[in-house]
Amino acid sequence: MDNNSPILVLGIETTCDETAAAVVERGRGGEGRMLSNVVRSQTEEHARFGGVVPEIAARAHVDLLDGIIDQAMKEAGLGYAQLSAVAAAAGPGLIGGVIVGLTTAKAIAMVQDLPLIAVNHLEAHALTPRLTDRLDFPYCLFLASGGHTQIVAVLGVGDYVRLGTTVDDAIGEAFDKVAKMLGLPYPGGPQVEGAAANGDAARFPFPRPMLGRPDANFSLSGLKTAVRNEVSRLGVLQAQDINDLCASFQAAVLESTTDRLTVGLKLFREQFGAPQALVAAGGVAANQAIRAALNEVADKAQTRLIMPAPALCTDNGAMIAWAGAERLALGLTDAMDAPPRARWLLDAKAKAPAGFAHSRAGF
Ligand code: KG4
Ligand code: ZN
Repeated sequence: MDNNSPILVLGIETTCDETAAAVVERGRGGEGRMLSNVVRSQTEEHARFGGVVPEIAARAHVDLLDGIIDQAMKEAGLGYAQLSAVAAAAGPGLIGGVIVGLTTAKAIAMVQDLPLIAVNHLEAHALTPRLTDRLDFPYCLFLASGGHTQIVAVLGVGDYVRLGTTVDDAIGEAFDKVAKMLGLPYPGGPQVEGAAANGDAARFPFPRPMLGRPDANFSLSGLKTAVRNEVSRLGVLQAQDINDLCASFQAAVLESTTDRLTVGLKLFREQFGAPQALVAAGGVAANQAIRAALNEVADKAQTRLIMPAPALCTDNGAMIAWAGAERLALGLTDAMDAPPRARWLLDAKAKAPAGFAHSRAGF
């Protein structure tokens, strides 16, 4: 490979319940192009359990991954010999799935004599807008999914400062748990959003967690408990009760998120100057009410909002391949003994916030 030829990376994602592989190209000027992006969501396998079951996820990754990698390579129209490197998400996530993806990447790297890149899944979310929008550093990332809720200052490849995180549940997780309490199917986010559209947001005055706090952390468990208490108090729920509970819950999440992000952007500006953009990623960013709130927050903070297409906001292989390409462009590769990691903070200096109690929140 001469120094002017583009970098071509195969990326593998297996940290949660999406089995995904993709090939992306990164030109030497930093321009990105997706050659394939194959995602197989395991939602159906987990739906009847009301959430992701780690053992089922790991087995499904084993069954599906080879075929998905094959398809990603075929759609890209490439042979392995044409690749520059193979990248896999090495964490954070459900360890069984991480082992499946990372081991597969190591096997391909070894057989094809390619460099291996062990990518942090959160870094991959953080770098996605450079693939989709050629965004320059620094920018502010709001990542809100079933496993993560973080506000991160993205200053460069490998240079991240966490400005805020949740001290308990992730936002998507709270949506899923509230849906479960109300007998709505998994995943709960879209269900709660749908019901909320027909509900009265003023009927239940739920708490607005962390409102006005000077740090940019989130907390969702008190709000979730308030919903649970109201559900018990009501006893048998009518359809209108469910709609009103969803609307009232979502309104509380919105107000809290708006406040937390406003503080996050203020902290960003104080420490790093004006961000190039506010970037939203993760399944929760699919929520229309949250999107509207983010627009407002960005407007007030005089920055623009970037939301990659939904397929690139949720877990996918292209983001892993792209993070691999960004790292490879800087000469960053990993040894064959790179470990799979259930937990892996993006910001090595970040400390757990006071009150930190939840196992998934440390992702
Ligand atoms: O990023 P994602 O697809 O997967 C991971 O968690 O890694 O995010 C899924 C999460 C689920 O908790 C789901 O309930 C939530 O995002 N979600 C939503 C909406 N759509 C998905 N939450 C609120 N409103 C939505 N419309
Ligand atoms: Zn993710």
